[in-house]
Amino acid sequence: MMEQSHELQFDLSRLVAGLPPSGIREFFDLVLTMDDVISLGVGEPDFSTPWHIIESAIFNLEKGYTSYTSNKGMLGLRKSIAETIYLKCGIEYNPEDEILITVGVSEAMDVVLRAILNPGDKVAVVKPSYVSYSPCVIMAGGIAEEIECRQENRFKLDPADLEEVCRKKVKAIIFNYPGNPTGVSYTKDELAEIIKIVQKYNILLLSDEIYDSLTYDFNHTSVLCFPGMKNQTVYFNGFSKGYAMTGWRIGYIAAHRDIVAMANKIHQYTMLCAPIMGQFAAMEALRSGEHEALAMKKEYNRRRNFIVSQLNDMGLTTFLPQGAFYTYTDVSIARLNSIDFAKKLLMERKVALVPGTAFSSCGENHVRISYASSFENIKEAMFRIKDFLKSL
Ligand SMILES: Cc1ncc(COP(=O)(O)O)c(C=O)c1O
Repeated sequence: MMEQSHELQFDLSRLVAGLPPSGIREFFDLVLTMDDVISLGVGEPDFSTPWHIIESAIFNLEKGYTSYTSNKGMLGLRKSIAETIYLKCGIEYNPEDEILITVGVSEAMDVVLRAILNPGDKVAVVKPSYVSYSPCVIMAGGIAEEIECRQENRFKLDPADLEEVCRKKVKAIIFNYPGNPTGVSYTKDELAEIIKIVQKYNILLLSDEIYDSLTYDFNHTSVLCFPGMKNQTVYFNGFSKGYAMTGWRIGYIAAHRDIVAMANKIHQYTMLCAPIMGQFAAMEALRSGEHEALAMKKEYNRRRNFIVSQLNDMGLTTFLPQGAFYTYTDVSIARLNSIDFAKKLLMERKVALVPGTAFSSCGENHVRISYASSFENIKEAMFRIKDFLKSL
């Protein structure tokens, strides 16, 4: 009998093949093979979803709500989201046609980019950033124009750098604050500088504010609060982070009705709708989840203050993150690049964190450390890192 070849006989997508590999896959494959690792690598809350939210989803499932919903999501949830946005910044969105419920912000970003881009359109991406932005731009046929935020600016976007990229005729900018991986956020005055440029060049602002409720030192101001920005913004938010609901997969956009209609066209052909149990849970979160969300934020804040002082005491320069649950820590005193630092720390002290190169080509001297882990774990991890540095 002829031996079967295991070579795939088909030509696959050149676009996908050309995407940069995820900088952390190999690393986290290694983590999975090891026992007793303290992981400060994950980007999701260590809390489980507040019980009354879970209960409300179970209650609705028991009543037999197990079907598809409207493509755009349940109208009741869209109405609650419109009210939430109105309370945050006094801007009205029509829940009928200006809000779309998606499978997380992840899906929202994908469908919006595909809805707005034509081949070769440029999109500015502020780096270091959440890993999926540039690949999503490329998969939508666009070109990612990355703007590197510098350490000397505490990783905040420099308006001059933004202006330089805007001159290259970008169509949109993906802007995320509080930011993953840096924890950077922006005061109202800082945002005003950025918005001035976005308006001057008439660029569509894709504002990912998924960590807005985890802002520690000042109140979060949405870009929507600025005059004239409603029609120039696609606002992204979701339930994964603030309410500890990553597995429910509910996000949303609020945008001009034409953008929502286009995004919904893709959404209906691909996802059909977001899961109904997640939508019920999200509705309950908005109805009465604030108390638990605030309690989680208080605990993240306690961990943030602890971890930042510990890291700086060890000589690992770390800016105080203003939001989210990450530090972006300079490990150059270890004289190892970020991947070697993370690998050696993992192998020798069983602490996992994410090499900075996963978020930016300039992340060589940095690692992302998540404090979405118990205080005890963080304390032990700090002890191990201190010990590790001494051994180098
Ligand atoms: C900035 C940012 N946006 C979006 C997401 C994805 O969120 P979702 O769970 O809503 O898809 C993440 C997840 O880590 C994130 O950090």
